[in-house]
Amino acid sequence: MKPTQACSLRFFRPGVRLMWSLGFALVALSLYATTRLPPLGDPIATADRGAAAKSLPTITIFAAPGPFVGPYGQRQGLAVRSWLGLSPQVTVVLFSRDHSVVAFARGLSSRVMVEPEIDFSFLGTPFFHSMVARSQKFVSDISVFMDAETVTLPDFLSALNFVHGENFAWFLFASTCNVSHIPFQLDAEGKHWLKESGKRVEFEEMQEVLGQCCSRSRLEDRMLLAWNRMDLPLHHGVLPPFLYGKGIHNVWLINEVLSSKLRTVLDASCCVSGLYIANNTPNFTKEPPLTSVESEINERDWESMGNALVGTAYGSLIFHEAKNSRLLRLLKCNGAFLFVNGIDYTTHVSARENMFGFLEKKILHIWGKEKTIRCVEDCMASGNAYSWPRKDEPASINFPFSLEALLPTLVDNNKTIILGVAGYSYKDMLMSWVCRLRALRLTNFVVCALDPETYEFSLLQGLAVFKDESAPNEISFDDCHFGTECFQKVTKVKSRIVTRILKLGYNVMMSDVDVYWFRNPLPYVSSFGPAVLVAQSDEYNETGPINMPRRLNSGFYFAHSDESTIAAMEKIVKHAATSGLSEQPSFYDILCGEGGTNRLGNDVCIEPETNLTVHFLDRNLFPNGAYAGLWDEMDVKESCLKKGCYILHNNWISGRRRKLERQVMKGLWKYNMATRMCLQSWHKVEIVG
Ligand SMILES: *[C@@H]1O[C@H](CO)[C@@H](O)[C@H](O)[C@H]1NC(C)=O
Ligand SMILES: *[C@@H]1O[C@H](CO)[C@@H](O)[C@H](O)[C@H]1NC(C)=O
Ligand SMILES: *[C@@H]1O[C@H](CO)[C@@H](O)[C@H](O)[C@H]1NC(C)=O
Ligand SMILES: *[C@@H]1O[C@H](CO)[C@@H](O)[C@H](O)[C@H]1NC(C)=O
Ligand SMILES: *[C@@H]1O[C@H](CO)[C@@H](O)[C@H](O)[C@H]1NC(C)=O
Repeated sequence: MKPTQACSLRFFRPGVRLMWSLGFALVALSLYATTRLPPLGDPIATADRGAAAKSLPTITIFAAPGPFVGPYGQRQGLAVRSWLGLSPQVTVVLFSRDHSVVAFARGLSSRVMVEPEIDFSFLGTPFFHSMVARSQKFVSDISVFMDAETVTLPDFLSALNFVHGENFAWFLFASTCNVSHIPFQLDAEGKHWLKESGKRVEFEEMQEVLGQCCSRSRLEDRMLLAWNRMDLPLHHGVLPPFLYGKGIHNVWLINEVLSSKLRTVLDASCCVSGLYIANNTPNFTKEPPLTSVESEINERDWESMGNALVGTAYGSLIFHEAKNSRLLRLLKCNGAFLFVNGIDYTTHVSARENMFGFLEKKILHIWGKEKTIRCVEDCMASGNAYSWPRKDEPASINFPFSLEALLPTLVDNNKTIILGVAGYSYKDMLMSWVCRLRALRLTNFVVCALDPETYEFSLLQGLAVFKDESAPNEISFDDCHFGTECFQKVTKVKSRIVTRILKLGYNVMMSDVDVYWFRNPLPYVSSFGPAVLVAQSDEYNETGPINMPRRLNSGFYFAHSDESTIAAMEKIVKHAATSGLSEQPSFYDILCGEGGTNRLGNDVCIEPETNLTVHFLDRNLFPNGAYAGLWDEMDVKESCLKKGCYILHNNWISGRRRKLERQVMKGLWKYNMATRMCLQSWHKVEIVG
């Protein structure tokens, strides 16, 4: 098979001709200038010495694959095999919670691990900041971030081995190529590429074919990133919550590394092959099927918009190659690696700095000078063939999901939705709650945002969120706690939203965000069946009935979607609308009767008109914040679990600050407000070569 007509030639675009000849002169000049300094030997020999002086580095490649199904799965499979085939130095870590990824990894090699414990959006997209933070706990010499569909070739390994031997702090990136098809197959071990005849393809031949076929991707998403550890951070400051693979994050990171000046940044696009091969199987015909969410709305659009918003909120995306001498091109010419400054084309065989902070100017050997100059020129010209993106700043995110569209994508097998309601003053509390649900592997939750700020915040944190248009807009930051007018208004939103969701046919587990979930309560609360509303009791007495007047806590209850429940909820909403109090008394007065006239036994009420049964949850299993002095215990978690707790409410305390402090101090806080990531108990993994 011959490369197709569609293949475009990399180096001979008319637009770069002027650059080409100007650059040629500059390279010639710089070679001339440097030849007058004392020679330090042949560059090839220097490179080999460097690599041999140290043992080969351990390399960990991190990627976030989608499910291994269809052509998409085949591309990923080929890519991962090509990485493993490079060398036994390579270990692969796949960030995913998908079963097909686990199965794929298990069938492949002990050098492939699957890591599910990072932050994902509700659509399953991993967060870049969480991936980077997790990668830092893997102790290997070099970390690599690869697009899961990008195949790489041995030139990548040689480049890494070379820069590793050079012994300085570096950060390397390379753009990748789009190739519609290559006439080669990877052998079973992933080590060699074969022709149709079954014969091995030499790397040079492969490069030649690719040189004609490669259309350099402008999609910065597929960029290849690598850096050496050296126990040095990548950059100053905090990596914002970008969604992985949705644009901006790679460029943002490169920018930050450059401006932090902790590392030398290397553009290795000319000497490292990263290939996106659209059709890697001969009988490939159609694109992967769209998931149910995608077929309704193209969520990629808004996820990209979200990243653009994060990017502009957290810093400039304008990329200045010219102003930064710390950016060098890494090239391989005539068999030797070279570092070339993109501005004055000065060419070095080493990127190490001398004691004055300048690059050591080692000399190019006269031998092969013409060829070297041509090679440098080719690269500089091709490097200009792709441009850095400058996306327009979106003013705000237009989230395409309505509550009605969201719920079917979230719901569990029992048609149950977990509902959290929050305003901006509780945004961190909301995230701690979310992180806890994620840790319990619960994904069927939705957040109702009471104000535009919470809405945007939640979107950028990857939550399934909707706006309540009728929410009061004067929710104050610190004072929206129990007993205030603000609190009363907010609580009334909850019963309205719950009723709305019930009417759509879903059961609702309504939980305040100041409720800490020790265990998943859903199997228990849903076991009471239809026409039973299961609610937390606010009784703090350790003995006696738990269904006494005004002891129903409307901050944690399970409502089954059925006629009785919906009828009763509508009564509550109506009552609350005319009451000057919060909705909590409406719950009790409607369901249990004023003064508790509908009480039955010690833990039940029956609403006579709708026949709804209210079951008050066992206070040991679902304790409120005043029960048994639990919050005063040294080890709240242990004391609570000893009683059999499913959840613990952080109520019966006034003031947002004190509430938050109590939860943090007692170790029931799960969110890092500085890094905007869930707290994880990540262990260190030593990668040994
Ligand atoms: C690369 O391929 C993808 C998928 O086929 C396509 O969407 C994209 O536009 C291509 N990019 C270039 C620069 O050809
Ligand atoms: C593609 O071809 C391979 C072998 O040539 C075959 O095993 C496989 O079943 C084919 N797949 C499809 C979807 O036709
Ligand atoms: C679904 O409900 C049944 C009882 O109605 C319960 O046994 C099961 O655990 C529930 N499943 C989940 C995921 O909550
Ligand atoms: C708590 O229980 C004790 C004894 O059982 C009783 O005397 C007291 O009134 C109860 N307090 C409340 C607030 O119900
Ligand atoms: C409530 O239950 C009683 C007795 O089981 C029945 O007669 C009545 O029709 C029911 N009411 C509703 C609204 O379901």
